[in-house]
Amino acid sequence: MSVPTEEYLAAARTFPTGVTVVATRYRDGFQAKTVSAFTSLSLDPLLVGVAIGRHSPMVWAARASGVLSVNVLRHDQRGVADYFAAPAQRRELPAPVGLLRQGTGAPVLGDCLSWFDCRVTSVVPGGDHALILGRVVAVRSGEGRPLVHQGGTYRALSDEQRNLS
Ligand SMILES: Cc1cc2nc3c(=O)[nH]c(=O)nc-3n(C[C@H](O)[C@H](O)[C@H](O)COP(=O)(O)O)c2cc1C
Repeated sequence: MSVPTEEYLAAARTFPTGVTVVATRYRDGFQAKTVSAFTSLSLDPLLVGVAIGRHSPMVWAARASGVLSVNVLRHDQRGVADYFAAPAQRRELPAPVGLLRQGTGAPVLGDCLSWFDCRVTSVVPGGDHALILGRVVAVRSGEGRPLVHQGGTYRALSDEQRNLS
């Protein structure tokens, strides 16, 4: 018995996620794309994972460079999410946010809610996506509200929704 794709997507879209920009080195420059499939995976060792379309050049670039950053967007960075969700060749320059090299050499967003600078430990096939796992070597986090994606649209948490207790 197979589940129709639309039914699957309708169920998957009920799940709220944050929105990140995942970035890696690519030749002399970088590759970056908007990704909601991020998970904080393990504390010992410190591992995060991201699911990336398996034909994306990012999978090749992350494997080749061995480094990756995950940058969590603030609620007011929808424009940044849209920019890095467009195909790379259609993005106008300059980017709406600066990218800086950190410890691993992976570019991180100069302005975002938090970032994780990682060394790639494995790239695991997962159907039409690849699960890229990274060992976290540096992090930074700040204050603010995250950008949220749910039901196929961007959302922000209101003060009332932030605390249910
Ligand atoms: C809110 C949002 C979440 C996304 N999440 C993912 C994701 O988890 N994995 C992924 O591979 N693509 C995801 N995408 C799509 C990529 O951002 C998009 O396909 C990519 O940036 C296009 O560039 P490319 O053609 O260079 O790969 C998401 C897009 C949006 C708008």
